[in-house]
Amino acid sequence: MTPLAKHLIRRIAATGPITIAEYMQECLLHPEHGYYTTRDPLGTAGDFTTAPEISQMFGELLGLALAQAWLDQGAPKKCTLAELGPGRGPLMADALRATRGVPGFHDAAEIWLVEASPVLRRVQQETLGGNATWIDSTAELPDLPLFLVANEFFDALPVRQFTRADNGWREHVVGLQDGAPRKGLAASLPIAALDHRLGDTTPGDVVETCAPAKPVMAEIALRIRARGGAAIIIDYGDWRSQGDTLQAVSAHEFTDPLAAPGQTDLTAHVDFEALAQAAGGLSHSRMTPQGVFLERLGITQRAETLGKNLSGAPLDAHIAAHRRLTHPEEMGTIFKVLGLTQDDAPPLAGFDT
Ligand SMILES: C[S@@+](CC[C@H](N)C(=O)[O-])C[C@H]1O[C@@H](n2cnc3c(N)ncnc32)[C@H](O)[C@@H]1O
Repeated sequence: MTPLAKHLIRRIAATGPITIAEYMQECLLHPEHGYYTTRDPLGTAGDFTTAPEISQMFGELLGLALAQAWLDQGAPKKCTLAELGPGRGPLMADALRATRGVPGFHDAAEIWLVEASPVLRRVQQETLGGNATWIDSTAELPDLPLFLVANEFFDALPVRQFTRADNGWREHVVGLQDGAPRKGLAASLPIAALDHRLGDTTPGDVVETCAPAKPVMAEIALRIRARGGAAIIIDYGDWRSQGDTLQAVSAHEFTDPLAAPGQTDLTAHVDFEALAQAAGGLSHSRMTPQGVFLERLGITQRAETLGKNLSGAPLDAHIAAHRRLTHPEEMGTIFKVLGLTQDDAPPLAGFDT
């Protein structure tokens, strides 16, 4: 039994069942035993591999898309270049390398990183050097034009889950059975915040909500609306969540989310409609599949250029990485990209105009 499982069992025994969001929060960010608090889980030797870990092309293209937005918006003399949940920092490192040749961009951009994990902050410092400011929340971002990227950040935020009943919704909870954590359903209650889901669900359907995503999106939108800038958000999910999407991953395999609290990654699919709504009417570029987005940004041309210097196994790995990022049966379709800019800003690169 993991140390966090013992803590959760004591907590549930003392105060009763906890919501899935409370369970995720404890598992991911418990100050002593949380998954992100205690480890660097990324990469082939870890539990999961993200797009910027697969290929440098991902961060390069996103960096160039943000630099293009900065140029299109008049190259403001000072701006924030921010990333949410940078992991080991490869996306920002590749973005900075790719944009070195954009005149004035690096002089204008202050780098701000929102990161909850002390372990990953240390890795990011090694990857990026000291030339960045680390913060806990988007509320601390400066009052400047904001150029922001977030890859697989929102899927790590805790979700609540509800099953539709005949006269309301039953929240999914984690309680105890024979002294071990077990999933259960709370009593049915009417929930006004889910009224908009009455039209597209029937009894028995499961929906998820992600309360912590709302203030994050509101803070981003506040700055872009007031000062300009752009946000590009990439994650797995869809326009509107439906179904139980909570998943646990360990050593690149799916596992039971209750089996080893604090020692497996827990995520849920992202509801992009909810993110766009939390941005409060800020114009958003249409949600686009990752594969289409990267092709529009020129990933195939970049892959061909990089491939010219490769042969044998490194070339095979490079071709596989391009396929993994873009192919509909790999990350190309399940991952989506949402862009935010001011209403009258020039369109963001990679999105349909
Ligand atoms: C799945 S990893 C993605 C890492 C990176 N973006 C990448 O693509 O390689 C999630 C990242 O978000 C961070 N994170 C998770 N929850 C967070 C929170 N509530 N506040 C700030 N950072 C958080 C994690 O520590 C980690 O850096």
